[in-house]
Amino acid sequence: MKNLGILLSGRGSNFTAIADNIAVGTLAARISVVISNRSDAQGIEAARQRRIPAIVLPSKGKPREEHDRATVAALRDHNVDLVCLAGYMRLLSPWFVQQFPHKILNIHPSLLPAFPGLEAQQQAFAFGVKIAGCTVHFVDEELDHGPIIVQKSVPVLDSDDEHTLAMRILEQEHLAYTEAIKIVSEGKFKIVGRRIVR
Ligand code: GRF
Repeated sequence: MKNLGILLSGRGSNFTAIADNIAVGTLAARISVVISNRSDAQGIEAARQRRIPAIVLPSKGKPREEHDRATVAALRDHNVDLVCLAGYMRLLSPWFVQQFPHKILNIHPSLLPAFPGLEAQQQAFAFGVKIAGCTVHFVDEELDHGPIIVQKSVPVLDSDDEHTLAMRILEQEHLAYTEAIKIVSEGKFKIVGRRIVR
């Protein structure tokens, strides 16, 4: 069973969805630590309520790699095998990425490579796409870029606004992250170029 380390900066709904799936036995894993770069992240409070070790390592004003070194040390202290970025609003340094090769996952609320970066759901809505969605991918040194593990599509309805669309994408995110963690922790895949093949 893999030890997960969750990195988040805010609400933490992807974290709690993963924790719920572990609690009901849908996912065989353990969350060994939740780390936030922001002290006001709701996800930290949610971790404490669940008695999961929760650490705040403020990033504001710190050089990126210095902050990443502290984060990696905390992940190592908790014997983390897989790092799950779940609304972690900070770019990892190349050094961090190299510490966990193909062991860092991220979730992004668009069908990559469309709409990387901030406010992806709003970008997709404003562009007028008919199919939106979410992506769980390995993290490499570029933003929202590494090999894709799971994607889920979400139709854009004529009646949607940015908010309703983002909510339906979020429901799919909560399913997609657990699926991706399962695939990676079972190790039953090959990476062929950029393709994850099972
Ligand atoms: C999600 O939409 C995720 O895809 C993006 O940031 C948001 C985090 O939401 N990377 P939450 O904190 O998991 O609720």
